[in-house]
Amino acid sequence: MKNLPYTFVVRRLATILSVVILSLSLIAAVTGILLSFYYEPTAGGAYNSLKIVESEIPNGWLIQSLHEIAGNGLIAVSLVEIVVMFLGEKFRPSWLTAWISGILLTLTAIALGWTAMLLDWTQLGYWRFAIELGTLEAIPLIGSQLRDILTGGGAVNTVTVAHLYTLHSYILSIGALILAIIHLGGLLIQEKEEKKQAIESEAELSFSEGN
Ligand code: HEM
Repeated sequence: MKNLPYTFVVRRLATILSVVILSLSLIAAVTGILLSFYYEPTAGGAYNSLKIVESEIPNGWLIQSLHEIAGNGLIAVSLVEIVVMFLGEKFRPSWLTAWISGILLTLTAIALGWTAMLLDWTQLGYWRFAIELGTLEAIPLIGSQLRDILTGGGAVNTVTVAHLYTLHSYILSIGALILAIIHLGGLLIQEKEEKKQAIESEAELSFSEGN
């Protein structure tokens, strides 16, 4: 078998992972939309609405599990992708686009997981959010504004669930989808450029050998 160069293997792996990333984002977005048909973004209704999805809606448990697996899988795969891209670094504009969009996508995926923390309104989610809110509030200058944006200015209640739900289901999920498309696009363009370069250098080599 022909010995493939290490950088080629690493870059091809990055492209394959970017296809996985886009697929996971699409699965999470579609299952999220399906969940939203029954999900009630209020402090009193969130927990019960998800219990109804799990136990009474046909295949509701499957949609919920797929959303959880795709959402958490997206975080894991995009973290691996950053390492793979770092190993195959290439300073072309297309590679840089994929690198920057990959990092932003990882941060968005983490933010999606974070904003989902309170959405099921369980004891664990509530207290974890309350503690992490305290940490956010301690950030100098912007801490208290950040807290107000997330909670709606008061205690952790229905308004907080609605704010996190809006961030999660509209802003961050659309951002993740756009970034996943840009990321894959950047890597596909870079593969095309690399192929063209290889053909050109091969042609040059055979030309100089012929002379
Ligand atoms: C790229 C798109 C999305 C990603 C990556 C994503 C990711 C996540 C993650 C990681 C969780 C936490 C799952 C867990 O560990 O229990 C979650 C929960 C949730 N997401 Fe999304 N999400 C996306 C889009 C959406 C959309 C579009 C909606 C609704 C319109 C939505 C609604 C929800 C709801 C209601 C929950 C709570 C469900 C539960 O706790 O069982 N998500 N999401």
